[in-house]
Amino acid sequence: MSFKALFQSIVWNNSHLTILDQTYLPEREIYIDLISAEQVWEAIRKLRVRGAPAIGIAGAYGFCIGIRELPDHSDFQSFYREAGRISEYLNSSRPTAVNLSWALKRLMDMIYSNKDLPVNELKELALKTAVAIHDEDRRLCKAIGENGLELVPDNARILTHCNTGGLATGEFGTAFSVVLHAHSAGKLTKVWVDETRPLLQGARLTTWELQKAEIPFTLNIDSAAAFLMQQGLVDMIVVGADRITVNGDTANKIGTYSLAVIANAHSIPFYVAAPYSTIDLKLEKGSDIEIEERDEDEVTHFGSKRTAPKNVDVYNPAFDVTPNGLITAIITEKGIIRPEPDYRKQIMEKFA
Ligand code: MRU
Repeated sequence: MSFKALFQSIVWNNSHLTILDQTYLPEREIYIDLISAEQVWEAIRKLRVRGAPAIGIAGAYGFCIGIRELPDHSDFQSFYREAGRISEYLNSSRPTAVNLSWALKRLMDMIYSNKDLPVNELKELALKTAVAIHDEDRRLCKAIGENGLELVPDNARILTHCNTGGLATGEFGTAFSVVLHAHSAGKLTKVWVDETRPLLQGARLTTWELQKAEIPFTLNIDSAAAFLMQQGLVDMIVVGADRITVNGDTANKIGTYSLAVIANAHSIPFYVAAPYSTIDLKLEKGSDIEIEERDEDEVTHFGSKRTAPKNVDVYNPAFDVTPNGLITAIITEKGIIRPEPDYRKQIMEKFA
């Protein structure tokens, strides 16, 4: 299947990065230029660019922008040390999505394995690697959609959480790519879109993408999901991931775990869609994943309006972890991974 690109949210412009600033969506489509590693750090931290694969891509370009400032005449050891510092700095922008550290490690490894080259050539190689990470993500996302299609029943009503589309990836999306392919194959009746409290990635971003793609959908508040399932209005759930550990436990946007519990209570299949760059082979289980906690303002305010009294105690984890036992299957570019005999065996076979 071929799809026309509806937008490009991350564009490398020879010397700088241009991104569609997601904080203005859906009201305004504003592109901003990022010309320093600090600006890329800020854009990731403030969710101007967000979604696990997109953070990895932006981080990779940010690294190339950062090392560009290092002197061409320096010896390899000094260059490598400073590049490492820039990599660690960018990696500190957000902790949960592994795609960021995965992309930065790929760049550092590439530099190390070419240490005999002059610094200016290492900089060029780094940029080529960042472009390759970006291009590869487009291919991975397309393959995820193609592979996920077989799981979609006819006349499907698919519920999704957060945003997993072209805004969150190089193109097509992860869970969104399954939706896109299902629609194109004539198998989709509609998408239920969880609004995704507190930052409303579902309401602001997923609906914006679905509208652009002319895919039918209905927006619901997160807490309506159980009622929808109880009424028999949902055939399957597909979500993205920020980090999948070796045993299949999956970190994704807060609210994903409760969705999985409810889906299991109603015997509705619950799928996770993600590329290999989201699988963390260094972590054995979900409790090892660092969960980002964000500002309390995201909970005490709705936009600029205060919705809770001053000085209330707030807990605002941005992600939760869905245990592998609640996941019906994981959809990857290398095919569908099922829990039998166990996720660990298949993840190691396919990705180690
Ligand atoms: O905090 P965000 O908006 O970056 O969180 C994004 C998600 O949790 C997505 O579901 C996940 O990154 C998958 S994106 C293809």
